[in-house]
Amino acid sequence: MSKRFENSLWFRNLRFGMFIHWGLYAIAAKGEWIKSIQKIPDEDYDQYFEMFDPVDFDAHNWAKCAKEAGMKYAVLTAKHHDGFCLFDSKLTDYKITNTKLKKDVVKEFLDAFRAQGLKVGLYYSLLDWRHEHYPAYKDPFHPMRDNPKYDTPRDFSKYLDYMHAQVKELVSNYGKIDLMWLDFSYDQYRGEYWRASELVKMIRNYQPEILINSRLDASGENLGGIMSQNPEIFSGDFACPEQLMPPQALKNEAGEHVPWEICVSMNESWGYNSADKNYKSADLIIKKLTEAVSKGGNMILNVGPDARGNIPQECIQILQKIGGWLKVYGESIYGCTDSGLPKPEWGRYTKKDNIIFAHIYERPIGPLLFPSIDRKDIQKIIMLDDFSELNIMTEWVATNYPQYTFVDIAPSKYKDITVLKIELKNQTGKEQ
Ligand code: GLC
Repeated sequence: MSKRFENSLWFRNLRFGMFIHWGLYAIAAKGEWIKSIQKIPDEDYDQYFEMFDPVDFDAHNWAKCAKEAGMKYAVLTAKHHDGFCLFDSKLTDYKITNTKLKKDVVKEFLDAFRAQGLKVGLYYSLLDWRHEHYPAYKDPFHPMRDNPKYDTPRDFSKYLDYMHAQVKELVSNYGKIDLMWLDFSYDQYRGEYWRASELVKMIRNYQPEILINSRLDASGENLGGIMSQNPEIFSGDFACPEQLMPPQALKNEAGEHVPWEICVSMNESWGYNSADKNYKSADLIIKKLTEAVSKGGNMILNVGPDARGNIPQECIQILQKIGGWLKVYGESIYGCTDSGLPKPEWGRYTKKDNIIFAHIYERPIGPLLFPSIDRKDIQKIIMLDDFSELNIMTEWVATNYPQYTFVDIAPSKYKDITVLKIELKNQTGKEQ
């Protein structure tokens, strides 16, 4: 990993985080883009501001849920594209402390998650569909994009002053923030159009150790300047592919590894969507988390609490299963990375120093073959579920293949995901 990415070591070790999308849109219950999709004018969307009354909100419940799921960091939407702020900004009235809840949710989130020992991050939307100076008419996404009444003079620099000042509030009023997730760039709205260098310098001035994602010059579909050989100061500390697993470890033009995090929704929505029951199974999410780690990346998994303030039951159940798995097998995920070995047919390899973890999804007929690991390099192999030792098989059918490593595992010992810990004799190379 190049020097540029030294700061992100904690992030690359923690590997698994919680994304929380929460705001007024939870009432409409059709996802966080509802204002844009249904082209809802402010006057109509305002009813949600009046209605918002999340009587069950308790950030400690969210934090416990994340902790028990084995998540090690969390990122909350301090402001999403609709412009509504979950923090007590001095710069707008359109904020959580003016709703029936009255509480500063960003503060409550930070306190509760820090208390559980998680690293904390804030998502902040660069777009703002509420601000009077954000482009509306003919913008590709603004709810009023087709409404000529919104073809009014707008001074984008005034919006930028507001946006910078709000980010300053977030990085200067709430103690240590570990991560800033800015979202997103499009068309000409990228890089210096956001006054990005100035923004990044300001953020780092208040939070010298903070990690910033790559969307000041990227969107979900492209990874941005972070992939180039000479990234800009605003190109970010990690790439954030959205809902798409990179085919292999991410490397920049110079061939150096780039830290990355795939963001994944549990169903098909980020913000609460009551009709969307298309949940991914815990088993699938665990496999995809392992895949991310096997390619040197992180996964941030989203929950969209409802308008009462509760994380949906379906999510809680999936998260509990993932947490149960990570309790036993977490050492094959946390602190692990790309093994540098080709993907085995039966699953995935992850790696930590001189240890290779084999994640087996498909049991073999007879002994298990480890491609690309020479048997004379192996110190010992154990199963992670019970720490029982496994023996390398050299006799009988295996004698035909002296260059390969076969291991005997009783068929009854296989699970949906079987994890083995293979300790190698020599250090095969440090982290990327
Ligand atoms: C996108 C969407 C947004 C979501 C985000 C998460 O950019 O606009 O709704 O918050 O990605 O990655």
